[in-house]
Amino acid sequence: MPKKIFIFFGPPGSGKGTQTDMLADKFKLPVISPGELLRFEEDRKTKLGEKVAGIMDNGKLVSDSIIEKMIDKRLAKKDARKGFILDGFPRDEDQLHFLIRKLEKITSPQDQVFTFLIHLNEAEVKKRLGGRRVCDCGAAYHLKYNPPKKRGICDVCGKRIYIRHDDKPEIMAKRLKLYHKQTQILTKKFGSIGLIHKIDGRKKIKEIHRDIMKIIKS
Ligand code: AP5
Repeated sequence: MPKKIFIFFGPPGSGKGTQTDMLADKFKLPVISPGELLRFEEDRKTKLGEKVAGIMDNGKLVSDSIIEKMIDKRLAKKDARKGFILDGFPRDEDQLHFLIRKLEKITSPQDQVFTFLIHLNEAEVKKRLGGRRVCDCGAAYHLKYNPPKKRGICDVCGKRIYIRHDDKPEIMAKRLKLYHKQTQILTKKFGSIGLIHKIDGRKKIKEIHRDIMKIIKS
C-alpha cells in the first residue's frame, strides 16, 4: 500500500493544527507536530520540557538537534509506517534538509507526498490566536469561530480550556516575525523541489478542508 505523507506550512494561527487533525481522522494517520510534542514534555515537567519551556514561551525556535531527534523517534513508531502528517516541521533550512534526506530514505516512487501552504494575513492571524483556547488533551477551540459546546469546557475530555502561553500579543508578534524570517523562505525553496499547494486560510474551517481534499483526490 503506498504511503501518504502530508506536509503543512503556514504562519502561526493559520489553521495547520485544525486541518491536520481533520486529515488525521479521515486517513487514520498520525499528526507529527513538534509544538504538540514539546508542550506534552512541558506539561509533564520532564527534563526536556523544562529545557524548552522558556524558549517556547518566548516565541523562539527550539534547537534543530532537539527537534530532529524528536522527529526521528516519532517516525520510527509503527503507526507512521503507512504515512504521516507534519504540522510545523520543517521550520528552517537545516530542518528542510533533514526532511529531504529522511524522505529519500523512507519513501518509494509510488508513495504520495503532498505539501500545503495555508495563507493568512497578519490581521486575521491576530484574531485567530487572540480567540484561541486549548485543552491539555490537545483539542483547540476559538471563542468565536469554533467555540466548545459548553462555555470554557473541552468537548472532548470535559476539562477547562485555557489560553496558550505563547498566544500573548507580544509573543505572538515574535512568532510571526520569526515565521517571516525563517520559515517563509522555505516554502519558496520547497516549491522549487516539489509542488506546493497554496490554500486560502481565510475561508471557513470546513471549506478549507474541502479545498485540501479536492487536491488530494485529484
Ligand atoms: P506550534 O505549536 O507549531 O505553533 P505554530 O506553528 O505557531 O502554530 P499554531 O499552533 O499557533 O497555529 P495553527 O496554524 O496550528 O492554528 P490552529 O489550527 O491552532 O509551535 C509552538 C512552538 O513550538 C514554536 O513557537 C517553537 O518554539 C516550538 N516549535 C514547534 N515546531 C518547531 C520546529 N520545527 N523547530 C523549532 N521549534 C519548534 O488555529 C488557530 C485558531 O484559529 C484556533 O482557535 C482555531 O480554532 C481557529 N481556526 C482555525 N482555522 C480557522 C478558520 N478557517 N476560520 C476560523 N477560525 C479558525
